[in-house]
Amino acid sequence: MDKKAFNKLLSGKKCVAVVCNQWGDTGKGKFVDLLSSWADIIIRGTGGANAGHTIVVNGQEFIFHLIPSGILHDTDGKVNVLGRSVAFDPRVVIEELDVLADNNVKVNNLKISHQAPLMLPWHIMIDRIGDKKQKIGTTGRGIGPLYSDFTARHSLFVNDIFNRDVFREKLVKFFEDKKRILSTIDKGVAKEVLNHPHLCNGAFFDEKDILNIDAIVDKYTGEFADRLKSYIIDLREYVDQALQDNKNILLEGAQGTLLSIDYGTTKYQTSSDCTIAGLAKGSGLKEQQVDYVFGITKAFYMTRVGNGPFPAEFGGSQSEEYCAKGITKDEEKDKYASQIDKLMESDDDFEIGVAVRLLGGEYGATTGRTRRNGWLDLVALKHAVKINGHNLSLTKVDVLDKFKQIKLCTHYKYTGPDIFYAGKNLKTGDTIDFFPRFSEILYHCQPIYKEFPGWQQDITKIENYKDLPKAIKDVVDFMEEYVGAQVDVISVGPDREQTIFKI
Ligand code: IMP
Repeated sequence: MDKKAFNKLLSGKKCVAVVCNQWGDTGKGKFVDLLSSWADIIIRGTGGANAGHTIVVNGQEFIFHLIPSGILHDTDGKVNVLGRSVAFDPRVVIEELDVLADNNVKVNNLKISHQAPLMLPWHIMIDRIGDKKQKIGTTGRGIGPLYSDFTARHSLFVNDIFNRDVFREKLVKFFEDKKRILSTIDKGVAKEVLNHPHLCNGAFFDEKDILNIDAIVDKYTGEFADRLKSYIIDLREYVDQALQDNKNILLEGAQGTLLSIDYGTTKYQTSSDCTIAGLAKGSGLKEQQVDYVFGITKAFYMTRVGNGPFPAEFGGSQSEEYCAKGITKDEEKDKYASQIDKLMESDDDFEIGVAVRLLGGEYGATTGRTRRNGWLDLVALKHAVKINGHNLSLTKVDVLDKFKQIKLCTHYKYTGPDIFYAGKNLKTGDTIDFFPRFSEILYHCQPIYKEFPGWQQDITKIENYKDLPKAIKDVVDFMEEYVGAQVDVISVGPDREQTIFKI
């Protein structure tokens, strides 16, 4: 890695953000790790335990969901913060702190916003029962129900767990509001769902009322409060002071723009705003206070976990149905790994997808699910760039090293029934170059591709942009022009050294 170029990129900046331009899982973690050496403070502003990142402690891998990956730099005095829009599940944070303690990692500088909305057993239970019907394919971490309550003004907050009477009073009121829904829930199903480690193994189940208020009050205001009290801060005050003290701040995004509640593909989305706007707000900052956004963009393919439209998916609905079966990494490897050379050259896009998944290791960190994948969709990227800004960091470019051909989706062919969309009347057969984020329209958008020759060489050891194959530079030039953005960084492998700067 060219350290000079890295310093040049960060020169004069005090607050930078890492945000995904796609459906998550684009390799934000590597950038957070890279930038942790620069940052004094690392803030996670949005999302919850639906995210997952791998942390290596003493050579052993752990999947963490809430505590930022920067926690391993705690010993160097780096401060890690869980921000004010994080769906805060105290059980998860305590479990992750225990893993760190068991591995002799001391945590002295973790901070938690007192204002974060509080995850209750109710939210996780409803998410798990509800998704059986809705089939969004959520991560089952309570995210949708929690943010719904937040918006409906029913939410409890982190600060409440330190005030037992207030907590109890709010919780009683909370369940009064839920009475009608509670009456429709099958007790047997609820019991089964609640009997899970994520829900303290049934500790909150009540034979009569389904959820036991006393058990929740005791756990949250007892053990949870005792363990977390020393980390609580007023985040707004904290960041104001940090900026005055000239500290470097790194904002760590979660999920991705195409999953955002505000800008993502409707219904098949998460419930927080995963864009730079949501991240800044969740970090106690104004968007204008962010000096630079690393728009993380997997290239030249992309992935999606769970259901929802994905126009450029390799093999279309065949891939969606295949991935929905929950096939594991090992099962896929056993079946296909020996045929990988053949798959890479296949005329069948579904087979190309299997090869890309195997080579890119595209299996969910939180759920272990096979990730759906497809060619890079520039129509969707243009949409994300308008929201997050025009600085792109491309990741996993080396995954396609051996492929003969690269395709970029530049337009969609609309194949659905006539429909009005934002002042336009869409008719079947129309070619469009904008991103209709409403799923009922996007499901009827077929990809139109521009084809490029592959570079068919190993790029994982290349250090400078000028040394990259011309075939890659041609694709980069085209995408920059097409989406109106500039590529500043290209990642050519998982190691931090495998990072090329194009500035
Ligand atoms: P939820 O956030 O658990 O409600 O899930 C809603 C949708 O967002 C589902 O399709 C999930 O698969 C997807 N999702 C949530 N978190 C992530 C993530 O960290 N990476 C990729 N997809 C995610």
